[in-house]
Amino acid sequence: MKILDALNEQANFELESAYIYRTMSAYLAEEDMAGMKHFMDMQAKEEVEHADKMIGFLQEVGYPVHYRPLDPGEGKFKSLLDVFQKALAHEQVVTKNIYKLIDLAQKEDHKPAEIFLHWYVKEQVEEEATFQSLVKQLDRAGTNWGALYQIDHYLSQR
Ligand SMILES: [Fe+2]
Repeated sequence: MKILDALNEQANFELESAYIYRTMSAYLAEEDMAGMKHFMDMQAKEEVEHADKMIGFLQEVGYPVHYRPLDPGEGKFKSLLDVFQKALAHEQVVTKNIYKLIDLAQKEDHKPAEIFLHWYVKEQVEEEATFQSLVKQLDRAGTNWGALYQIDHYLSQR
């Protein structure tokens, strides 16, 4: 069934997201922003959970899950703001993917897949809101290290 193939691909994409967030975490570690690094590590963990949830669903419906190689991307960032802008853009891609999966589930009248995906719609609203807000805060902070360290401290609490 095509929807299940597409869900398998999205599970891989969620794992790839974790991998990409790891490259962001590495950059943040190099920049000595411990709180931001911690936040990104937590984000990477969440992506693995998103993948695991999909893999669990696929296995429950008897689909043979398969894995593809993961691409971490270039892993090059220009600034702290650039990291979070790229993370936001990535989440926007994920949201589009989830919407496409729901369209496909509806087209194939695969009710379990459609209802399963509803959780991800809600999750993506949260994900986008979180990154949207961080981009705004980092944009305002600009090159003011006082403000940047305040954001860093705030993110260490996640
Ligand atoms: Fe995710």
